[in-house]
Amino acid sequence: MNQDEKKKKVAESAFLTVLPSLNKETVLGIGTGSTTNYFIEELNRAKVSIKGVVCSSEASKENLETSGIKVMQLNEVHGIDIYVDGADEFNSRFELIKGGGGALTREKILVNSSDRFICIVDDTKFSELLGKFPLPIEVLEVARSAISREIMRMGGKPVYRQNFVTDNGHQIIDVHNLKIDIPYEMEATLNNIPGVIENGLFAKRTADVIIQATDLKIITLKKDT
Ligand code: 5RP
Repeated sequence: MNQDEKKKKVAESAFLTVLPSLNKETVLGIGTGSTTNYFIEELNRAKVSIKGVVCSSEASKENLETSGIKVMQLNEVHGIDIYVDGADEFNSRFELIKGGGGALTREKILVNSSDRFICIVDDTKFSELLGKFPLPIEVLEVARSAISREIMRMGGKPVYRQNFVTDNGHQIIDVHNLKIDIPYEMEATLNNIPGVIENGLFAKRTADVIIQATDLKIITLKKDT
């Protein structure tokens, strides 16, 4: 099975997992990316009746147009019951790197407002030590060089994501070779640099459930509470 087939399979499986919990009061959170797009395809097909969806990007919002589901702002809802999104990397502690699609800031806001975060991935994205995937950081344009210098002092190699502007109007630096021994600490350290909007480490608030596609099967991992 190639990676794209795994993305589709895991999204279909996640949809079947989530379906029994949906009712007319449910607020669903929807992330961004190709795996999530397969989940959106299921939503568009099934025509479920829920209170609404809150999306982490304009792209996902557009993709949901044929679902018939009301797209809502986070400010309009009490919170999100279930948030479904992909990731670029995950480890056995349910910590993640996200932001390959550039929607990390809104994703972190939505995750933080969610009762349950279901992360949908394929097995190629597992890495016990996070950081093989370059860590995306959303930055204010005026601070980009200053932040890059700070990151170099920390041992990372910052690469400016050319021709890309986030939905929030900011830029992205992708950081290679950063030693992320303690993701929780690195997440806080990076967010402490002036001009950093948000970074793609999801360690303070991890996934609650990881549904993972392998060549042979779908594996559901639940975090101990
Ligand atoms: C977007 C993200 C995505 O979830 C992540 O990049 C995974 O994308 P894909 O499902 O296309 O592999 O964090 O900001």
